[in-house]
Amino acid sequence: MKKKICLASNNAHKIKELKELLGDSFEITSLAEIGCTEDIAETADSMAGNSLLKAQYVYNNYGIDCIADDSGLEVDALNGEPGVYSARYAGEHGNHQKNIQKLLKNLDGKANRDARFRTVVTLIQNGAVDLFEGTVEGKIIESQVGDNGFGYDPVFVPNGFDKTFAEMTMEQKIPISHRGRAVEKLIEFLKAKK
Ligand code: IMP
Repeated sequence: MKKKICLASNNAHKIKELKELLGDSFEITSLAEIGCTEDIAETADSMAGNSLLKAQYVYNNYGIDCIADDSGLEVDALNGEPGVYSARYAGEHGNHQKNIQKLLKNLDGKANRDARFRTVVTLIQNGAVDLFEGTVEGKIIESQVGDNGFGYDPVFVPNGFDKTFAEMTMEQKIPISHRGRAVEKLIEFLKAKK
């Protein structure tokens, strides 16, 4: 029987991506499926901190093994912004269009377009806490291209490719993405423990 692990997220897109990566080995449950309907505060000032906060909340309140992740975009010419504030960069949580517009405006005229996505995944299994990190380096282009994905995907071109994440299918994006790489480390860890 597959082991149950709760993914501490309500983002349907992310749940789908992670089920695709982990579904063979684990039964992934969403927050709704364990009866958690409250908003989990993301008040830390780092991705690792927020990822840990979310996982600890679920483990402490629901007593179930869980995985939580926190991601963001770091832009070199903006001193690492929007970073931990990626989802609410333009002020309104999850307004991807406004976030992209603010990003492009702040980068206007800047020669250095280097950026990376970063994910920190926290696993809590039987009370033991482990963190896994994944990054993907790339560049922010000047206008949006592509309709797939979410967030900053239409303006991010990963190094070594000539299309944005929003022009890639999920199957193309996952293996090279920050989240895919962090989850790959998580899977290696879980397999080694078996
Ligand atoms: P989360 O912690 O995974 O919810 O990510 C926080 C924010 O970072 C999202 O709301 C997006 O703005 C941005 N982000 C994270 N991962 C991605 C991605 O794969 N593509 C585009 N934007 C992302």
